[in-house]
Amino acid sequence: MGFPKEFIWGAATAAYQVEGAWNEGGRGLSIWDAFCHQSGHIFEGHTADTACDHYHRFREDVQLMKQLGIRAYRFSISWPRILPNGTGSVNEAGIRFYEELADELLQNGITPYATLYHWDYPYALHQRGGWLNPESPAWFAAYTRVVAQRLGGKIKHFFTLNEPQCFIGLGYENGEHAPGLHCSRKDCLQMAHHVLLAHGRAVQVLRDVIPGVQVGYAPTGSSFYPATDAPEDVEAARKATFDVPERWTFSISWWSDPVLLGQYPEAGVRMFGQDMPQIGKQDLQLISQPLDFYGQNIYNSAPVRADGNGGYVCVPRPVGYARTAFDWPVTPQSLYWEPKFLYERYRTPIVITENGMSCHDAVSLDGQVHDPNRVDFLQRYLRELRRGIEEGTDVRGYFHWSLMDNFEWTRGYGERFGLIYVDFATQKRTPKDSFYAYQRVISENGKTL
Ligand code: NOJ
Repeated sequence: MGFPKEFIWGAATAAYQVEGAWNEGGRGLSIWDAFCHQSGHIFEGHTADTACDHYHRFREDVQLMKQLGIRAYRFSISWPRILPNGTGSVNEAGIRFYEELADELLQNGITPYATLYHWDYPYALHQRGGWLNPESPAWFAAYTRVVAQRLGGKIKHFFTLNEPQCFIGLGYENGEHAPGLHCSRKDCLQMAHHVLLAHGRAVQVLRDVIPGVQVGYAPTGSSFYPATDAPEDVEAARKATFDVPERWTFSISWWSDPVLLGQYPEAGVRMFGQDMPQIGKQDLQLISQPLDFYGQNIYNSAPVRADGNGGYVCVPRPVGYARTAFDWPVTPQSLYWEPKFLYERYRTPIVITENGMSCHDAVSLDGQVHDPNRVDFLQRYLRELRRGIEEGTDVRGYFHWSLMDNFEWTRGYGERFGLIYVDFATQKRTPKDSFYAYQRVISENGKTL
C-alpha cells in the first residue's frame, strides 16, 4: 500500500507572495499593493514590491523545483498582471510571463497547477465595489476566460479561489488583511455569495474553453479531531468540523456545501435569518458545478470530545504542545481526520493544496539551513496522510507550502515557510534540510517515511 503510484507530489506559492515586479511589465495595482504601501499594516513596514523576485528569477526557481523532484507546481496567476484594470484590456507582457513560466515547467517535467485568485484583487475593481458589486462574478468569469483562452493550451489544471475564508473573513470582516475593511455580517454574507458565484462561473468557463481541463477549489477552514478514538468522540469531531459557528467566515461547510452539495448548511441559514444574501433561482446550481478534485489547505486542527448530549466540547491542548514559529499548533493528525471527513461528506477526490510550517530559519556557519522541526513536521503529517489513504480516503496529491520563503501577508518576511531559504537582501536561494528530506520522500514515493 502506501501512496498511490501517480500521487502528485508538489509545492505551492502565490503570485503576490513571490513575484515582486509590482509595477513592471504593465501590471496593474492590487488591493495588497495599496495596503502594504500604507503604513501600519505590515510587520516592520515590509512590502511585496520585490518579494522573491520570482518574476525575473523563475527559471532558476524551476531548476530548484526540478532538483526537488516535484511533479507539480501550484502557483497563482495575478489578476492585475493579466488585466491591469480588472476588466477590459489585456496586458500582453503579463500573459507572456505565465506562458514562459508554464513552458519552463513543462520542459522540466513539472505539471503547472494554477490558482486563478490568491488574494491580489485588482484595485480598480475594488473601487467599483469589489465583491459586494453584483457584477463581481461576471468580472471574474471574464478574467477566467482570458486566462483560459490564452494559457489553456499549456495549463490544464486549475484551482478557482484560494481560501475564501481568509480573503473575506480577514479582508472585509476583521480588517486585518487588505483591503482592511470592517463590513457588516449581511454585507460579508452577500460578498461570500458573489465569491461562490464567481467560482461556479469560472468552472463553467474553464470547461467551456479548455478541453479536458481539471478543475478544483482551494478553501480552508477550522477543523477538529477527536480527543480519543471512541466513536462518539469521532462523531463529535465530524460535527464540529462541519458546524457553522458565530464566526462563520472560518467554517468549512458555509463555503463548501454550496459548491459540492448545492446547498447552504441549514444551521447557518437559520442563524443568519435576515442577513442571508439574495440568492437567485439558478444560483446554487451554478455554484455547484462538478469538480474534478477538492483542494483543501490544511495546517492544524483542535481536539474535541462528545458532550454526552449529541454535541461536542473543545478539549484543552496538552500543556507544552508543539507550536510553529507563528505559534500555530503542530497537529499531524489533521492530515488524517480532515481529508477523511471531507471525503466522506463531499465524495470528491482530495488534493492537499497547502500544508507546512513557519520556522525561525537562518543560514548556519556551515552555510546550510538546518530546519529539523520542518523535517519532523513533514514526516509526521505525511504519515498521517498515508494512514488515511490506506484506509480509503481518496487523496490524489500534496502541495507543500511553500516552495520558498516568501511574503507572509501582514507578517511580511517575518515568517519563513519555505523548503528553500531566501536571503531577501541578495535573493540567494539555499535549499534547507527539509528540501532534501522532501526530495527523498518524493523519490521513494513516501515508502520510508
Ligand atoms: C494560507 C495562504 O493561502 C497562504 O497564502 C499563506 O502564506 C499560508 N496559508 C501560510 O499562512
